[in-house]
Amino acid sequence: MSNAFESGRPTLSASETVLITGGTGAIGEALCRRFGESGAHIIANCHPGDADRSNQVVAAVAEQGISIELAPFDVTDHEQCKARIETLDAASDGVSILVNGAGITRDASIAKLSPDDWDAVLRTNLDSVYHVSKACLPGMRARGYGRIINISSVNGQRGQFGQTNYAAAKAGMTGFTRALAREVARHGITVNSVSPGYVRSPMTDVIPTDIRDRIVDEIPVGRAAEPAEIAHAIGFLADRASGYITGIDLSVNGGYHIA
Ligand code: CAA
Repeated sequence: MSNAFESGRPTLSASETVLITGGTGAIGEALCRRFGESGAHIIANCHPGDADRSNQVVAAVAEQGISIELAPFDVTDHEQCKARIETLDAASDGVSILVNGAGITRDASIAKLSPDDWDAVLRTNLDSVYHVSKACLPGMRARGYGRIINISSVNGQRGQFGQTNYAAAKAGMTGFTRALAREVARHGITVNSVSPGYVRSPMTDVIPTDIRDRIVDEIPVGRAAEPAEIAHAIGFLADRASGYITGIDLSVNGGYHIA
């Protein structure tokens, strides 16, 4: 595998296959558009129950001339992930870029937090990273190249009232990232995380307005992020020229982590 700097073209290759879990959410859609510009083969995963809405996202992105393959499967199910990714790997040149972006919130202070809402967030946000990464790694190792980017959160660093479940999962992702980065570095695979702050999206739209306004007041940049700003950071880590960056967490939060 040639060094991207030696070739003078530090960019994503059009022959790459990108798998994005949660690929039709706000950040997922921005990623589809960003990776799509390079002509890469994009596979956007969604939950099987979310296929109708996701097809609308696929159609919206197609208007920009970007074609996405939709792959509905449940990222909390180990066997389903293994089977689907084996099939996807066989049908393409193999997944070389994986973005673990599937995530949900079930916000409640701990007195009100049910075991179901604890489990749902840990299974979807953290266990999925194990299931999907493990399924993609044999192909990456065989090809001697891969990029794994896990979407964590500023709230995994700072904690947030009402998010013991979410903060635990997101902090867990950064530990996973560092450990896996060590394991696969010699195989040409980098593993990093990006920690967005508050992003304009359906996930933050449901926060009561007064609470959201208070949070935005604390962000040094003075606003929530656009999904494309998070996709930009992920694109940087996915680049062939980023091969010497591994095991990091890249904060993209408008300075919210400084406070
Ligand atoms: N800090 C301190 N105290 C708080 C508080 C806060 N942020 N929010 C509520 N409280 C206090 C209330 O004043 C109240 O106090 P009293 O009992 O003395 O009156 C008490 O806690 C209420 O506790 P409840 O458990 O009854 O709270 P609630 O049910 O009314 O609301 C909540 C809890 C739903 C979690 C609400 O606080 C909330 O929506 N918070 C926002 C959580 C958030 O930021 N989520 C991020 C979602 S987006 C995301 O996660 C993406 C990303 O990566 C950033």
